[in-house]
Parts: sequence; structure tokens; C-alpha cells
Amino acid sequence: MESITRKEAIDKVKQNVSDDKLRKHMYAVSDIMKELAKELDKDVKNWSLSGLLHDIDYEETQDDFKLHGKISAEMVSEEVSGEILDAIRSHNYENTGFKPEKEMDYGLIASDALSGLIVATALVMPNSSLEEVRVESVMKKIDDSSFAKSIDRDRIKMCEELGLELEKFVELGLEAMKKDSERLGL
Ligand SMILES: [Fe+2]
Repeated sequence: MESITRKEAIDKVKQNVSDDKLRKHMYAVSDIMKELAKELDKDVKNWSLSGLLHDIDYEETQDDFKLHGKISAEMVSEEVSGEILDAIRSHNYENTGFKPEKEMDYGLIASDALSGLIVATALVMPNSSLEEVRVESVMKKIDDSSFAKSIDRDRIKMCEELGLELEKFVELGLEAMKKDSERLGL
């Protein structure tokens, strides 16, 4: 199936997600997935769409996190390809029971976590900007388990399932988000 356009997906995010911070998170994950797809020679549009749409049910599923991801997939089931739906369901695999199996699945889980750590790192910089964040800053924060404790480092390290070393993944993710810093507001 041919997926909806990026513009249509962004409109759908705006319709369903009221929290600006959450929207920006979805844009950031999409940015990283796009660069990952380029790096790995995958379908750039579909990888980017999985990032853009993965949390579209977040505000609806807060009271029942087991449904998070499943409902997102239902909400876009007629609009995107099956591989995107699988990735969206499996990004919350601990709760949905949909295990990650394909590269896009692992990419989404890793990008979701990395984007959070990059944002947290930017926020402790003197001017709270992405511009100030270096690859080494993020690498240090990965090793500092007292920093941004809720972010699971093992998820970030799932980049290795894609044959990408952690440092390379951090570099790619950071560059991807820096290019979009205006929209991300960082
Ligand atoms: Fe997310």
C-alpha cells in the first residue's frame, strides 16, 4: 500500500496530539529515522513516517499503556504500509507483546530513546540548545546512569541490531535533530 504523504501525516499528528512537546518528540524521532534510512539505504519516506506517527495515540492511552502503539496502528491502518504498523506496535513491545523483528522496528525503538536523551542533554547546556551538544556530550550521558534515568540505554543500543555502532548512531541522530532545531524549538 502507498502510504500517506508526509504533509498528511503531520496534519494527522496535529489533529490528534495537543501537547506541543509530544509533537516535537514525534518530529525528532522522524528526523532520526529519516537519516537512519538514508544511511542504511532503506525507504526514507516510510521510515520517517513511522517516527512521525508512532505516538499518535499517546494522549488516549495514558490510562492503559498496554494499548499504546496498538491504538496508534489502528488509527493509521488505512493510511500507511504494514511494515510501519508493525514498527509502531512493537515500539512498546514490553506492553503490547508485539516483539521487534525487522530493522525498522529496532530503528524506531532506538530512535525514540535516543531523541529523548539528546533533548535532555540539550536542556542542560548553558543556552539549552542543540547547537551546543556534541557527540561526546551525549556519549557521556549514556554512561551516566543518574542522568535522565527514565531513558533506557539498552533501547538506544538496539542500533547495533542495524549494524550501526553506538557512536555512529549518536552522531547521525544528533545531526538529524540539529538540522531541524528550529521546528524542535531547541
Ligand atoms: Fe516516542
